[in-house]
Amino acid sequence: MSGLGFHNRRSVQKRLGTFWNGARLVILLGPPGAGKGTQAKRIAGQYGLQHLSTGDMLRDNIRRDTELARKAKPLINRGELVPDDIVLGMVQERIAQSDCENGFILDGFPRTLQQAQGLEGICRLYKSKSITVLNMLVKPELLIQRLANRRICKRSGHIYNLVDHPPIRPGICDDDGSELIQRPDDAEAVIRERIRTYEQHICPVIDYYSVRGLLYEVNAITDPDTVMANIMKVLDAEDPAK
Ligand code: AP5
Repeated sequence: MSGLGFHNRRSVQKRLGTFWNGARLVILLGPPGAGKGTQAKRIAGQYGLQHLSTGDMLRDNIRRDTELARKAKPLINRGELVPDDIVLGMVQERIAQSDCENGFILDGFPRTLQQAQGLEGICRLYKSKSITVLNMLVKPELLIQRLANRRICKRSGHIYNLVDHPPIRPGICDDDGSELIQRPDDAEAVIRERIRTYEQHICPVIDYYSVRGLLYEVNAITDPDTVMANIMKVLDAEDPAK
């Protein structure tokens, strides 16, 4: 496998092998608007895991106008996937950092069979084998409504919804007073393409984790507190420390 950052796989694996003992990996699958980001932040806080969102990493590259961003931005703006080698390289570099040594939660990755296989290659030295995959299930008709009404704090990334979780003052983050923004790919036509793209690629990923006995389905239709309670039932039962 080639790609940005992926060429130095051996040195990264060597480093991973030294500190991944006992660390926990949680993977969140679900269509755009399923609530992955909302729940990933809660799970990270509850279980002391690092939250890694490939969407956030790509948007950070776009803000910094990197070489990677020049390839990724037009694809993201059209609702298409960024090539596997770019995303795999980005993830591999990120999880090799020391703040992931106690475990991490992957939000929006893997999205293709190639990414799932690539992750397994990266994790071969992952000795605890504590991997839990949560597939967040939502009625399709809810997705567009949720995403079209999403607003995000420019500074902290806190996620709001104009209908279900509005800020106290319009356009202003309750936590830090920063501006709330709408993602460019939350335009309705792009949302529809993102959902179509997700459905086109995700079935083999779901099968991949299902046959390995790692996949759990989570009802993500109800309010965020109830969804978190559903998630905690699975994660507490799967706790590697127990
Ligand atoms: P990414 O940023 O990962 O976007 P996504 O997967 O489309 O998911 P979203 O962030 O839109 O939704 P979410 O499930 O996190 O929902 P949220 O919690 O915000 O990816 C963006 C793009 O980057 C992709 O299209 C692709 O181009 C590229 N990319 C990223 N990863 C890639 C990869 N691995 N490979 C290739 N390309 C990649 O919630 C949404 C709204 O709903 C909010 O307003 C929230 O308040 C509300 N809400 C949440 N939960 C509930 C609830 N239970 N009840 C009511 N409302 C709720």
